[in-house]
Amino acid sequence: MKVSPSIISAKLEDLGSEIAKCVEGGATSFHLDVMDGHFVPNLTMGPDLVKAVRRCTDLDLEAHLMLQNPDKYYRKFIDAGASIPLIHLEAPINTGLLLKKITNEGNRFGIVINPETPLEKALPFLEDASLLLIMSVHPGFSGQKFIEDAVDKIREARSYIDRHKLETSIEVDGGITLDTAKICRDAGADIVVSASYIFSGEVTEKVRLLTRL
Ligand code: DX5
Ligand code: ZN
Repeated sequence: MKVSPSIISAKLEDLGSEIAKCVEGGATSFHLDVMDGHFVPNLTMGPDLVKAVRRCTDLDLEAHLMLQNPDKYYRKFIDAGASIPLIHLEAPINTGLLLKKITNEGNRFGIVINPETPLEKALPFLEDASLLLIMSVHPGFSGQKFIEDAVDKIREARSYIDRHKLETSIEVDGGITLDTAKICRDAGADIVVSASYIFSGEVTEKVRLLTRL
């Protein structure tokens, strides 16, 4: 299983060593939860923190943009060192247009769907997306409980991607523990995001346990 630790729950005063522990445990990318206080009821990081993370690792950095205006800000995150912006289909903008723009600029993108958004909404964009992020909590806070309905969505996405021979990876975000990660893997997920599970204990070991699934 590929593992993308979300640094939202890392000890920020020790960010460099927290990242190094994740890399030692076999993390395959890092997940940066960007929240604007409008699209979700919480505020987190901006491009400067992404720059700091970029100085600590060469792994892919996913910028999970929980923003009302991802079209206005995605470029700042790419310039700061993010490898791939993850765009919510629920953002109140013309997401199709934005995704085309990102591709035309030579960048990869991922698409994100909230628990209440049906997979059908994502299908038109799947072929061009490097990854599909299925939310298994309502975005905004770490430490929430995994919403089981996500499992059917992962299964459906796996079968669609395989049937159409697409290369899109399936990633799951929210409430991931060793148990829920196993369920996601069995349903066909490629990558799990985890914040509170990884950073609430022995970080290297937690990442290693997830990667060994
Ligand atoms: C939720 C974020 C997640 C979250 C994960 O809004 O997108 O990345 O922080 O946290 P855990 O793993 O604690 O559910
Ligand atoms: Zn996230």
